[in-house]
Amino acid sequence: MKITKICCIGAGYVGGPTMAVIALKNPTIKVTIVDINEERIAAWNGDDLSQLPVYEPGLAEIVEKTRDKNLFFSTNIDEAIDEAEMIFISVNTPTKTYGKGKGMAADLKYVELCARNIAKVATTDKIVVEKSTLPVRTAQAIKSILHNTGSDVNFHILSNPEFLAEGTAVQDLLDPDRVLIGGESSEAIESLANIYGAWVDDAQILRTNVWSSELSKLTANAFLAQRISSINAISELCEKTEADVNEVAKAIGMDSRIGPKFLNASIGFGGSCFQKDILNLVYIARSYNLSEVADYWEQVIILNDHQKRRFADHLISTLYNTVSGKKIALLGWAFKKDTNDTRESAAIYVSDHLLNEQAEIAVYDPKVNAHQVYADLNYLNTRPEKENEQLVSFMSDPYEAVKDAHAIAIMTEWDEFKTYDWEKIYHHMKKPAFIFDGRNILNKDEMTKIGFEYSSIGK
Ligand code: UDX
Ligand code: UDX
Repeated sequence: MKITKICCIGAGYVGGPTMAVIALKNPTIKVTIVDINEERIAAWNGDDLSQLPVYEPGLAEIVEKTRDKNLFFSTNIDEAIDEAEMIFISVNTPTKTYGKGKGMAADLKYVELCARNIAKVATTDKIVVEKSTLPVRTAQAIKSILHNTGSDVNFHILSNPEFLAEGTAVQDLLDPDRVLIGGESSEAIESLANIYGAWVDDAQILRTNVWSSELSKLTANAFLAQRISSINAISELCEKTEADVNEVAKAIGMDSRIGPKFLNASIGFGGSCFQKDILNLVYIARSYNLSEVADYWEQVIILNDHQKRRFADHLISTLYNTVSGKKIALLGWAFKKDTNDTRESAAIYVSDHLLNEQAEIAVYDPKVNAHQVYADLNYLNTRPEKENEQLVSFMSDPYEAVKDAHAIAIMTEWDEFKTYDWEKIYHHMKKPAFIFDGRNILNKDEMTKIGFEYSSIGK
């Protein structure tokens, strides 16, 4: 099928950047991104490109080049569905918060709603592409909904999982390691392969069956997260044995079979994908009674929770076993640098633990705003919202955040933290001045020389 018009449902972290790059590389294809959230669409259409709903290096420039030429943002979902030959489903698939599979399984409510809407609106044949990360065999459910509409419209379902990482999304899209397309109809697969073929070498476009494609996405995220939990487990051992986790990571990373990437010990991984996808994998394994498989992957999450917890515990015990009434400055709230996304950020859980001990927290993050910080803490429902407001303050100046603090905890590896005037910061803090470097980004010797009591992960 020759594709001239694409519709993408979901203008989020995945849908926005992916469609912007597809539009950039395929100027003859009209790409329309739709969303039920009017505010979000208005922000994508806003004049100020620095205020797009998703911050990604390089994205604003692409949106500027393509918007209102062949890239459109709209809330008119039905019209965009009907005119497109290819529809991407890129809505969120959060972990279920209710009923069967609560806290584990993916909530497919939004995906199903999209499928039903497509079935209702479509008057011509469509290729429907699953872009959201989904449990294995979801395509079957979508297929069943689409094929039972009673109309003559034909639907082909493809799985095309996204491997972009936030903060480098544009780069990952422009130069992907691979593009994965799973499907039954080779004609439909080639229609999508042609779109990527505008800039991706054909050898990097993998064609598989639908189920392999769906499972590959979950497996890729599980393997990546597993590496972090593995090095974090070793970091705790390093702290007991005087080994240095950076040295261990370098030594093992030079083994070409292991490789150097994703071996940074940290306060624990965050982000919208890793925990959700592993929980999903665990849930699926349990549903087939594969308890050893489920337990194996669950351990990755258990270790990650432990890492966040022990960071907070270490901070409290170092501050003479109490943080009550003490100001702790948190540098960074995003789950990693170069993004404004805070979903599952370790900072949220570390803060929650410190707040339970009545700490006073001052937060600074270069891209996250105060509203998001309070929303993240309130979402946990640990204490009344009013108490979060009393105990947590948000500063737009990092030097204000650290003023009179007993300790600084580095939560995100933002580059700018390395360039601060640490002498000045030291002089404005309470003494002894503690730094807990949850990302191992500062130089221990330099910090100690200034006078800080410095501790990091795995050293
Ligand atoms: C994506 C993937 O789709 C998800 O499966 C993956 O695991 C994480 O990344 P993401 O783009 O990050 O999700 O989600 P989000 O930024 O929340 O965007 C989803 C958008 O879909 C939202 O703007 C939401 O308003 C929209 N939406 C949701 C609809 O338009 N219709 C719906 O029915 C539900
Ligand atoms: C991840 C996958 O990398 C991507 O392929 C998939 O499509 C979506 O999920 P993302 O969550 O955006 O991407 O970020 P990623 O760079 O993978 O980082 C996830 C978390 O792990 C962050 O909190 C990061 O700080 C942490 N991390 C990463 C470490 O703690 N140590 C590392 O060595 C690498």
